[in-house]
Amino acid sequence: MLEVIKNRRSVRSYKESPVEEEKIKEIIDCARLAPSARNVQPWKFVAVTRRERLQELGEILDTGPFVTGAPLCIAVFCEDTKYFLEDGCSATMNILLAAEALGLGACWIAGDKKPYQEQVSRLLKAPENYRLVSLISLGYPREEAPGKAKKGLEEVFYREEFS
Ligand SMILES: Cc1cc2nc3c(=O)[nH]c(=O)nc-3n(C[C@H](O)[C@H](O)[C@H](O)COP(=O)(O)O)c2cc1C
Repeated sequence: MLEVIKNRRSVRSYKESPVEEEKIKEIIDCARLAPSARNVQPWKFVAVTRRERLQELGEILDTGPFVTGAPLCIAVFCEDTKYFLEDGCSATMNILLAAEALGLGACWIAGDKKPYQEQVSRLLKAPENYRLVSLISLGYPREEAPGKAKKGLEEVFYREEFS
């Protein structure tokens, strides 16, 4: 688990090979087991694999045009509850870690706060009371993701209080 967490990096370029159905199911199964406030589990997950639809998504998502080249995109929706955003992010993180554990590359694409959320909701026929939290593009990585610079432990870690 620690290795999975430490090795995960956003991957935006994918091989053409599809993601196996069992893997898709396994990833969504991990997503649904995420923690949620008061265990409300307000989420629904839409896995998109149809090429034309991925193409359409790629055209809509200004910060995720690479979805067009992905064999799979999972959209995370949550019912409009008090902690919908935290809950949806919690499930999104499980998706990213499950993907890494299964040898897949993935990238979190913003959903909430983006002007395209309405358009995505319409395209995926989301019910009125569901809000788009995130989209995750997935596939077998085409190449090793360049490691993003991360803040060092000493820069972010305090004991007892800020010092
Ligand atoms: C809330 C959130 C929204 C993000 N939205 C996008 C996005 O729209 N497009 C994108 O390419 N990456 C997006 N990312 C991925 C970040 O750019 C990436 O996690 C960050 O640069 C650190 O790189 P790493 O994931 O490789 O550690 C998002 C990440 C988070 C947490």
